[in-house]
Amino acid sequence: MKTIIALVFFALSFGAQAVEGSFALQKADVDVFDLESVRRGAGYFVDYCMGCHSIKHLRYSRVGKDLEIKDEVLRKDIMPEGAKVHESFLTSMDPEDAVKWFGVAPPDLSLVARARGADWLYSYLKGFYIDESPTRPTGVNNLYFKDVAMPNVFWDLQGLQRPVINTHEGNQVIERLEKVSKGKLSEEEFDQTMSDLVTFLVYAAEPAQYSRLSLGKYVIFVLLILAVILFKLKKEYWKDIK
Ligand code: HEC
Repeated sequence: MKTIIALVFFALSFGAQAVEGSFALQKADVDVFDLESVRRGAGYFVDYCMGCHSIKHLRYSRVGKDLEIKDEVLRKDIMPEGAKVHESFLTSMDPEDAVKWFGVAPPDLSLVARARGADWLYSYLKGFYIDESPTRPTGVNNLYFKDVAMPNVFWDLQGLQRPVINTHEGNQVIERLEKVSKGKLSEEEFDQTMSDLVTFLVYAAEPAQYSRLSLGKYVIFVLLILAVILFKLKKEYWKDIK
């Protein structure tokens, strides 16, 4: 009996995924070694996301060190008013209020880039569209996350999008999204903004990647020196044998 229930759930979840995943992902332009991009992304995160989401594994001080930002710039450009440098990227939203407002608490985004992948995040952030059905309290839906509880926070920067619906084998399917109002940013500027934000989330999911790279360089340097010493040693040994 349990197996049957499990199978039914599996089939159902598969069905749900098929609807969500039926749109090809858009490719995010992510380079975590472009520190300017990660810095901009950190600023966007605090301005546009931290009202609801936290990155509880990441401290401001760590970001300052990894991204080579001076304390006073960190305070001015990234940290919210009143935050302290040793604190984490924590939202001030009360989880109970969040449930009251959205029906679900916004998840912590510390590891979201690892769980979802950069392309999914990028596509998701660009995938909000107008959905006026009465079951949608936010007035929007998302191509990559059906019936998501999150509102579209970038409606003014991106402009509003409406779905172009086609009938395919008797089913109504969304073919693509179409702009119905102009955003404050041009399409290229908006894409760049989303890429910066995703790049920051990719960094946040694994802040150790920078130190790992410098460790890698150090290891190669030590191996090279070792190789030279061994080469000399070999010559020394064989000198008398010849
Ligand atoms: C007004 C509150 C609010 C703001 C602001 C907000 N979100 Fe959300 N977000 C939510 C809620 C609520 C959910 C949960 C959606 C659900 O489960 O249906 C969510 C879900 C998500 C998810 C899906 C997580 C997962 O894997 O299930 C991602 C990714 C995300 N948000 C990213 C962002 C980013 C990036 C920003 C800033 C640009 C942002 N959000 C701003 C409320 C918000």
